[in-house]
Amino acid sequence: MLQKSNTMKQKKIRIAAATTTCYFACQFSHLRKVIPIDRTIIITDQHVFKSHASKFRGWNTIILKAGEAYKIQPTVDAVIQQLVNMKADRHTWLVGVGGGVITDLTGYIGSIYMRGVNVGFVPTTLLAMVDAAIGGKNGVDHGVIKNLVGTIRQPSFLLYDTSFLKTLPDSEWRNGFAEIIKHAVCFKPALFRELEKNQLNSYRSNKQALAALIEKNAMLKFKIVQADEKEQGLRSLLNFGHTLGHAIEMVYEVSHGEAISLGMVAAARLSAKLSGFKETDRLQQVLAKYGLPTLANYDLEKLMQSMEMDKKKAGKTIRYILLKQIGSAVSQLHSFAVIKKLLNQQL
Ligand code: GLY
Repeated sequence: MLQKSNTMKQKKIRIAAATTTCYFACQFSHLRKVIPIDRTIIITDQHVFKSHASKFRGWNTIILKAGEAYKIQPTVDAVIQQLVNMKADRHTWLVGVGGGVITDLTGYIGSIYMRGVNVGFVPTTLLAMVDAAIGGKNGVDHGVIKNLVGTIRQPSFLLYDTSFLKTLPDSEWRNGFAEIIKHAVCFKPALFRELEKNQLNSYRSNKQALAALIEKNAMLKFKIVQADEKEQGLRSLLNFGHTLGHAIEMVYEVSHGEAISLGMVAAARLSAKLSGFKETDRLQQVLAKYGLPTLANYDLEKLMQSMEMDKKKAGKTIRYILLKQIGSAVSQLHSFAVIKKLLNQQL
């Protein structure tokens, strides 16, 4: 018997020619009402499958090894072979059930398999719920360059079931909060103040507060993507902390949240020099409050090699996202040499 959540909220979000339907405060079992089970293949990872095996009963499932190290082209090729073996055709639905690695891989495979099949996501981490599963960018890493290869294509639906978060390790909660803090510091001063007042456990232990926080952050990202799907202006501001952050993530053994936390601190300090930002301390305090690192020793030369290939770099210049004040981010073009010199001074 299917159970319907009393509080489920359905929202349709139009992005260019596509429509993504969001099922907030939903239960995984509702998926059977959204798509035909006999024409669906779920792509998930070993961790999610093991922790939630009963949810997958009855569904065709491809189970991948977990981790960013597998967000690479050979995984894509292996999945495509499995889809061929399973006789997936143009009417097959692919549903990514997992964190950002799974939703990125599923979105990418779904956009190239038979030149495109229907795709939906069930994000299972806080980070995927508020950020990674939203926006249609998907793809794979190449060497030390994150997300070098991919497509932009919106999923048909996102189904939010927060019961997946019950098995989330502490580090994954911190990862999610790194992106939530980014949203607040770039766009929402009121959310930033709310985060300053609260702490991670205030949300983790309060289902309603958590659901509201997730929906607020998901809708914030949706609105930005709606306004600028192809990242020609507003959307680029979401890259705050990600230029150096992605390089740190690819060169060192740190999580995405930890890497972008360090990237945000570095960008805030650059902002103090380049765009008059005066509240680096406040940002550092919030990051630290949510268990994120604000200080690290890194080899800037190594990181620069990864940043050299960043998609925001053009010739000798790079578009860097800086802050003017809490809640107000700005994109500025600077010479790569100047950014390098200022980052060097921070070490
Ligand atoms: N898939 C993440 C994004 O589009 O931003």
